[in-house]
Amino acid sequence: MENKIKEIDLQIEKFKIEDSESLEKFRIQFLGSKNILKDLFAKIKNVAPEKRREIGKSINSLKNKAQIKLETFNEKISEDCRENEKIDLTLPGENFKLGSRHPLSIVNEKIIDIFGKIGFTVSEGPEVEDDWHNFTGLNLPQEHPARDMQDTFYIEKNPDWLLRTHTSSVQMRVMESNELPIRTITPGRVYRNEAISARAHCFFHQVEGLYIDENVSFADLKQTIQYFAQEMFGKHSKIRLRPSYFPFTEPSAEVDVSCSLCKKNGCNVCKYTGWLEIMGCGMIDPNVLSNAGIDPEKYSGFAFGMGVERMAMLKYEVRDLRMWSENDIRFLEQFKSAW
Ligand code: DAH
Repeated sequence: MENKIKEIDLQIEKFKIEDSESLEKFRIQFLGSKNILKDLFAKIKNVAPEKRREIGKSINSLKNKAQIKLETFNEKISEDCRENEKIDLTLPGENFKLGSRHPLSIVNEKIIDIFGKIGFTVSEGPEVEDDWHNFTGLNLPQEHPARDMQDTFYIEKNPDWLLRTHTSSVQMRVMESNELPIRTITPGRVYRNEAISARAHCFFHQVEGLYIDENVSFADLKQTIQYFAQEMFGKHSKIRLRPSYFPFTEPSAEVDVSCSLCKKNGCNVCKYTGWLEIMGCGMIDPNVLSNAGIDPEKYSGFAFGMGVERMAMLKYEVRDLRMWSENDIRFLEQFKSAW
């Protein structure tokens, strides 16, 4: 037995490992599932009992020796492989797919940019809002019929909380917590309890605008919107204001822009009217100013609100509102170099 152990010890020492093939042979012979050391272990029972301990130890140290040799060469061979690896600089590079900004972000940023040039800052507010900021403060008390204009998602735990139905809610917050004059826009996501279709969605995006100072007039509002429409839809764009109703503004109007696709000759985007509706606006109702602690005798202001999806649909001629949120790469890829 002792001789056999010496013999294997020598074999382990002399075994030439030169490459991964011989390394594998070594592993199988000395450490694999049917290795020769196992035979030795099996034969221990034939050894005289007083010698068994010692023989067992010797076989174990053989096993360790083989293990160490295997690991040393394993490391060395993988290092050699790395050194021998040649880099072929002429091979074509890997193609990385470049992402692109979402078209709604592009439009949103364009709107921010246009208003930024005439001094409007950007404000934000929470999407989970309380009744006061979304409705009551804006002249829409409980039971006001105009609340039905916007189907609301209420928060079950506390019916005073809801998902904001418009970014006008941020108007209230900005008025409550800022010094006058205020000149700001508020981009953000809004929610309505609507069945999803090509023309309606349960969430979408708006940009709200607000300007309050002494002597702000309807002429200022009109001029600001005209400037916006021409920056957004082209220098030759015209606007028209139609009288309308919003509880938070008086007087209120809806704004149309001349259809830039058909130059007012009529097409199916503008439904042959030559005009496209782009936003609601008006002079801030004195009640709303008072609700926010602003003296309506001294100050006046205008507000407007527009849908970002609507703006993007007009800009890119997309007919189905669902496309904006379905994340279909084939659709989104097309806007890489827009604007
Ligand atoms: N909040 C309105 C909506 O979501 C849009 C709007 C209309 C905002 C008139 C305004 C405004 O600030 O003056 O339909």
